[in-house]
Amino acid sequence: MAPLPSIRPVTAADLPELVRLDGQAFPSGPYPYFVLRQFLDAYGDHLLVLDDGSGLLGYVFATAPNADHSWILSLAITPGLQGRGLGRRLMSEILERLRSEEVKEVWLTVEPNNDTAVLLYRSLGFVAEGAPRRDYFGPGEDRLLMTLAF
Ligand SMILES: CC(C)(COP(=O)(O)OP(=O)(O)OC[C@H]1O[C@@H](n2cnc3c(N)ncnc32)[C@H](O)[C@@H]1OP(=O)(O)O)[C@@H](O)C(=O)NCCC(=O)NCCS
Repeated sequence: MAPLPSIRPVTAADLPELVRLDGQAFPSGPYPYFVLRQFLDAYGDHLLVLDDGSGLLGYVFATAPNADHSWILSLAITPGLQGRGLGRRLMSEILERLRSEEVKEVWLTVEPNNDTAVLLYRSLGFVAEGAPRRDYFGPGEDRLLMTLAF
């Protein structure tokens, strides 16, 4: 049986592949390279990738804790590998790490019609904070704020 892909922090050498992965997962609005570079500089160990030894299968990005809470900035799995439990694995790992750092709450935003992501976050204990925020990420880009209290 093939070994489980491992989860590890991002390194600078991952950036070109992360740009590719992010562009596949979010074709209408991927992060520019410079934003990923700044996430790496700012949040280091809180950016995790799923690596099977031959390439990156997914990532989860969180912020370092600030005032007892952290944000999940983004979560993505390579399109052909979605629906196999990899997103749940990455989320569970980052939440475990944040919990061990004594983070009290985790916050995230999600596109309100992204049923897969909303279901995943709910099943992990996140709850919606009110109705979706209109134009949160600019015109037409509504987002639902969800929070998890440890
Ligand atoms: C959202 C995403 C990260 C989830 O990762 P994934 O590996 O596909 O999801 P998983 O296989 O771990 O499934 C986790 C849960 O999601 C839900 N889910 C997964 N596939 C689903 C589908 N096709 N339809 C509805 N719900 C689904 C289920 O609740 C599932 O729970 P289960 O494990 O009890 O079955 C992934 O689909 C993705 O990268 N999507 C594109 C980018 C994106 O939308 N990111 C989230 C931004 S907030």
